[in-house]
Amino acid sequence: MEADRNPFKVVVVTGVPGVGKTTVLEHLARMAQQRGLKLKVVNFGDYMLETALKEGIVRSRDELRRLPLRRQLALQTLAASRMVEDASRELGERDFLVVDTHALVKTPSGYLPGLPFNVIEKLKPDMIVVVEAEPEVVAERQARDRGRFRADIGGVEGVRELMEQARVAAIASAVRYASTVLIVNNREGAPEEAALRILEALGGLQP
Ligand code: AP5
Repeated sequence: MEADRNPFKVVVVTGVPGVGKTTVLEHLARMAQQRGLKLKVVNFGDYMLETALKEGIVRSRDELRRLPLRRQLALQTLAASRMVEDASRELGERDFLVVDTHALVKTPSGYLPGLPFNVIEKLKPDMIVVVEAEPEVVAERQARDRGRFRADIGGVEGVRELMEQARVAAIASAVRYASTVLIVNNREGAPEEAALRILEALGGLQP
């Protein structure tokens, strides 16, 4: 009997903007390579941005979350389909697709689920990782990350509320495919610890 999944393993990595997902995933990719695991890391925002730039509707990734909501929904659905299609050409059943994304996106009209049914039906995640850190620390990281515009996230209190709701959203998204939810602390100065925790968890997905 086969579980209803993609042929390759899918790990969705979420966390509020600036918590350090991309940084942790750089460490994870390196560690996985050292252990002979094949991992394809993709950024959901990159897929959305590629289409949005072609259509001339944004100039930067931080503008995506301020697009009209139906536009975001269309880009989101297309992104999920394309990343699974791309991965299907490259990955076998022992390999991992790792998706860097958000369980909840803060828009001017409220929180948009990053992993609603239209996305989950494509990704069929084996695991959803929630990367967290203290809200004060995340706000400091956002401030240090000067190439980005994140003032709309709302400082420490905005980060705290988004983080609380995003954890709940990740669990809601996990229900459809019985994905596990792994909560990982990205401790200040130690992103490799968080990467190692995720790497250990991948072991549970291997046959
Ligand atoms: P997205 O593409 O996810 O933005 P991003 O740039 O990849 O990442 P974030 O902004 O979330 O930052 P991060 O957590 O990766 O932090 P980083 O590692 O850079 O999203 C762009 C847009 O796409 C979204 O706004 C949304 O509109 C859209 N989108 C994406 N997914 C979507 C979905 N599913 N549905 C709808 N829309 C979606 O680190 C930040 C800083 O912290 C760096 O300076 C780094 O050096 C530092 N740092 C990291 N870890 C540590 C540590 N442990 N100690 C000290 N410093 C650290």
